[in-house]
Amino acid sequence: MQLRTWTSKDIKAGTRVFLRIDANVPIKTGKAQDGGALGRISQALPEIERLRKRGARILLASHLGDPGGKLDKQLSLAPVAKVFEHRLKRQVPLVRDFQAPELKPGELCLLENLRFDAGEEKNSDSYAWKLAKLADVYVNNAFGVCHRRHASVHAITRHLPSFAGELIVREVAVLTQATTKPFVLIMGGSKLETKLGILNKLGPKADKILLGGGLAVTFLAAAEVELPVYPLPLMQTHDLTVARKLLRQFGHKLVLPSDLIAKPKQHLVADIGPETRDAFTGVIAKAKMIIWNGPLGIIERSDGMAGTLAVAKAMSKSRAQVITGGGETVEFLDQHKLLKGFTHVSTGGGAMLAFLSGEHLPGLEALRRV
Ligand code: 3PG
Repeated sequence: MQLRTWTSKDIKAGTRVFLRIDANVPIKTGKAQDGGALGRISQALPEIERLRKRGARILLASHLGDPGGKLDKQLSLAPVAKVFEHRLKRQVPLVRDFQAPELKPGELCLLENLRFDAGEEKNSDSYAWKLAKLADVYVNNAFGVCHRRHASVHAITRHLPSFAGELIVREVAVLTQATTKPFVLIMGGSKLETKLGILNKLGPKADKILLGGGLAVTFLAAAEVELPVYPLPLMQTHDLTVARKLLRQFGHKLVLPSDLIAKPKQHLVADIGPETRDAFTGVIAKAKMIIWNGPLGIIERSDGMAGTLAVAKAMSKSRAQVITGGGETVEFLDQHKLLKGFTHVSTGGGAMLAFLSGEHLPGLEALRRV
């Protein structure tokens, strides 16, 4: 996929650039968690510096959470502005009500959460126009939100010369060539529905598909394996039908857990067991390409993280190219100092899955070179 990128002809000293970033990061006790060197904030910095070097006047813009089109103080981008100030060692004023300050070349500000206006998620053209009027050029570097047909991702591109930032170009390049063999797909998390696209698209190309988390429990139930805890709260009858079909389709390459850490009193499966961990790490050792999405257990629990940790460690040490993504995963890897071993940590969670599933992402389609 060829995307339009900006050159020195498009951005000159004084050009006002609307830079869409994905600064949708967890806020804990009023502080934005930037997820370390490969977190979303860190990954937004190089494009900002490129633009500053050109002398652009930069309006950073992002969403945070889902305020439902209304002002919600808890979801203000003020803590994110603070992190940018700290990282860039310069002032980054937060702009409310579209009253952007007079910026000098190389200066920047951050617009308040775009989703405080209902027009954002409705892809409203009038809202997009309001945003577009603040700038001369639009640069999208928010890969994580490119699967959303929202005003600051899609409609705005009708009103301004629009380009992809380097982060998006890199994400697209890496994720496009993501299936060198032996290729192993590792999937966790709880909802089968959100993983179906990627299983259908990449399942046929994968040599092995390792399943953990609630997802694996659904497959085990579909395979009529006796389970210590069943059914799980998020499991739906429909999922069992789908899982049966996938078992028939991919049976020979699916690796399901042979043991689980179950907590029957709490009616949950906390993790994959030690035997499964060993089986998974054995497959990882032989892989050349791995795509991993979703935790293999309940990683917020001390008794639910060992499986994901062991498998993440094996991936970080393996000779394979490893691609992963999603805010929760990045935070986990950062906490355990494992980020370095990963070839590509996508800034997209849902966007990465949608891209790998072969979907057309509205934000990318709007930047496609014709
Ligand atoms: C993400 O966190 O995956 C992106 O920022 C998109 O957020 P959304 O799922 O709320 O649209």
